[in-house]
Amino acid sequence: MAFAELKNDLFLRALRGEEVPRPPVWMMRQAGRYLPEYMEIARKYDFFTRCETPELACEITVQPIDIVKTDAAILFSDILVIPQALGFEVQMIKGKGPVLPGHIKSEEAAFAVLAEDIPAKLDYVMKAITLTRQTLNGRVPLIGFAGAPWTIFCYMVEGQGSKSFSLAKKFCYQYPDSAPHLMKEITRASIEYLQAQVQAGAQALQVFDSWAGLLSPEDFNEWSLPYLLEISAAISNTPHILFAKGAWYGLERMAFKSQASALGLGWDVSPEYAREKVGDRVSLQGNFDPAKLHLPIPELKKQVHSMIRRFGKQRYIANLGHGMTPDIPVDHAKAFVEAIKESEFF
Ligand code: CP3
Repeated sequence: MAFAELKNDLFLRALRGEEVPRPPVWMMRQAGRYLPEYMEIARKYDFFTRCETPELACEITVQPIDIVKTDAAILFSDILVIPQALGFEVQMIKGKGPVLPGHIKSEEAAFAVLAEDIPAKLDYVMKAITLTRQTLNGRVPLIGFAGAPWTIFCYMVEGQGSKSFSLAKKFCYQYPDSAPHLMKEITRASIEYLQAQVQAGAQALQVFDSWAGLLSPEDFNEWSLPYLLEISAAISNTPHILFAKGAWYGLERMAFKSQASALGLGWDVSPEYAREKVGDRVSLQGNFDPAKLHLPIPELKKQVHSMIRRFGKQRYIANLGHGMTPDIPVDHAKAFVEAIKESEFF
């Protein structure tokens, strides 16, 4: 498949560690409920219909490029399409989030999970990627993604969101044989899924380990890191970002043991700490607290400028420390992006 030449390559340059006039910017959950244009589509089609219909996923992916003018697009989809492809029903319940009614409660259920024909089962994602690449026509690069095995495991065992994911952690201690089986199958599925996304046109990838921070450093080394490293090695031909939210203690190991181009940071890590740990091995991405987008715009811009000064303009991708929330005024999202673009002049 031949695609148009890339006009804005700031994001890919920053991932490769090449010199840039200013850092690129995108926002996690940049396509979503804070945009009235997204809500208009959300009123007509339920969540997974939006994910499974390439024309809708494409339209939603491109909305923030037109409206808030970020330097990269991230495909509209969800990390929970992997449990779906592994045979689990996922419901997206308004006001509550995802629910997996048939979540894993026993060793037998964990051993029964087998990754089979994942790219074929998620062919609608590949179609959405190819269509979006064509529609973007080289304006900005397109990011594909998957959840990290630990985070997917959390949902498959817990069956819903949780502050502590205590059922998922308990499962690891109770069933030391079947828990790794499940993580290995999720890893295999994720690798095939990410490789197929690249084939379909994704130019960079991000792996979201949203719940890594629930683990102690020792448990992170056992239940999260090995699988992140396996995925990273398998996608080493494509620039990719590992975002293990809250796992500041794993930065050094992720930087030096993985093939990642960048590491994502939550707002729990200072730019200085992260840079000291990773040296020049990787670029850093993050980490503005999305709650701070509610600051009055002049103060918001001041704080964004300060963040850029602390990270430095090179080997840095400006982003939030976690996803956008639905209550953020669009003007404030635009101001965040503008503030980063202004850094070209300081
Ligand atoms: O714009 C983008 O970032 C791309 C699209 C995207 C979504 N989910 C769309 C979505 C991405 C990258 C994700 C990843 C995702 N999904 C993660 C990892 C990142 C993170 O936020 O930690 C996780 C843990 C999920 C699982 C998930 N999906 C949850 C917990 C929820 C409910 C959260 C909420 O705010 O209600 C979802 C639903 C979801 N996925 C929404 C969107 C835009 C909101 C629901 C809706 O729009 O109807």
